[in-house]
Amino acid sequence: MNARFEPSGPLRGRLSVPPDKSISHRAAIISAMASEPVRIRGYLEAADTHSTLSAVRQLGAIVEERSDELVVRGVGLRHAQLPPGRIDVGNAGTLMRLLPGWLAFQQGGVFELDGDDSIRRRPIDRIAEPLELMGATIEAREDRFPPFVVHGAQLSGIDYRLPVASAQVKSCVLLAGLATARTTVTEPVPTRDHTERMLLRAAAALEREGDHSSGLRTTIRNTDELELDEVDVPGDFSSAAFLIAAGVLVKGSRLTLDGVGVNWTRTGFMRILERMGAIVIGDLETVGVFGPDEPTSDLDISSGPIEGTVVEPDEVPLAIDELPLVALLGCFAEGETVVRGAQELRVKESDRIATVVEGLRDLGAQIEASPDGFTVHGTGELRGGTLYAHGDHRLALLGAVAGLASIEGVEVVGVEAAQVSYPRFADDLAQLVS
Ligand code: S3P
Repeated sequence: MNARFEPSGPLRGRLSVPPDKSISHRAAIISAMASEPVRIRGYLEAADTHSTLSAVRQLGAIVEERSDELVVRGVGLRHAQLPPGRIDVGNAGTLMRLLPGWLAFQQGGVFELDGDDSIRRRPIDRIAEPLELMGATIEAREDRFPPFVVHGAQLSGIDYRLPVASAQVKSCVLLAGLATARTTVTEPVPTRDHTERMLLRAAAALEREGDHSSGLRTTIRNTDELELDEVDVPGDFSSAAFLIAAGVLVKGSRLTLDGVGVNWTRTGFMRILERMGAIVIGDLETVGVFGPDEPTSDLDISSGPIEGTVVEPDEVPLAIDELPLVALLGCFAEGETVVRGAQELRVKESDRIATVVEGLRDLGAQIEASPDGFTVHGTGELRGGTLYAHGDHRLALLGAVAGLASIEGVEVVGVEAAQVSYPRFADDLAQLVS
């Protein structure tokens, strides 16, 4: 499906962005592992999080969908039921990498996971390696890609240093660690910590030490039961980021986004925007906080001139899903914008270094790829044209925002990819156009 996004007049008004995708996935999985019912308010209604509900239902959880909340009746930590067939994770990398952490300690259980074409290109060796060290067996296509089978076993604890900065891998090991005497995960650079916060709220035996500059160590110990009464899912910062970029780039814009999650491990993009000189005001969580809560803030955005910046490797995990927008902003900035140390972008829903660079170049941008990032030479404008989403939701949304800020508009080919995280993007946009 194609959609055209024409150059826009000022964006004005206020709205709530969709609920957080990362937190929704975790809420469904951790609730399914709990023994008492959990009420989830503001669960994201989108393709990815739908896949997670289907998966936990296949494993025996009962999910009641009420008008204003979900109630999940879990099966308890060690009683996942054997699904009748494969678990279909759809397009959801987070589901594919978190769920095996739980399945790995269902002793005697055999679980097959598969997904769409994009999922079949995403590596799972990064979770297979620690889970096998703990005692589970993972059989995968070419040892690396879905479909794959998890054979549950009695697990032993490990001390694991993350070889890639990935919250999905960290979360998988922590979930598996719930069934071990002691498992520690060390991350050289901080990544999003929604799993740790939710496990703390669910009374798991979890401790965190270190700080964000010297490295973080999380220890988890054998836990009998998870007790999570309720979860309130905040607005998704990564979805908000598209409207933030639109507000900064479309001249005369002034908008407010209500109730956006501002956990500091998600808001690296705000610090990049600040350096670029963009006017985005919010009450952000202080860097280095490790509480159990997920803070929120309203964000006020005004359009204005921006300048180029350099994004260094240690900033990358805290802004990983927003880097395509840094490329777009770079087109309109004065000077050069450089992103380094972002090779993880190559294994997202698409190879996001290639798809972003080629996509924006087709729209008139002066941008070059490097093995681990890109350099944009700002020209202050973008001509427009056609952008292919390549089945990647963040590419589809990038094309839409590029269209609003462009001279001739942008035709997004494969716009339905946006269903994965932000199904009502076009409606929200229509509300903001005066
Ligand atoms: C996510 C972690 C990130 C991110 C993805 C969601 C999560 O992936 O890109 O959109 O919810 O844990 P990695 O952990 O692979 O970096």
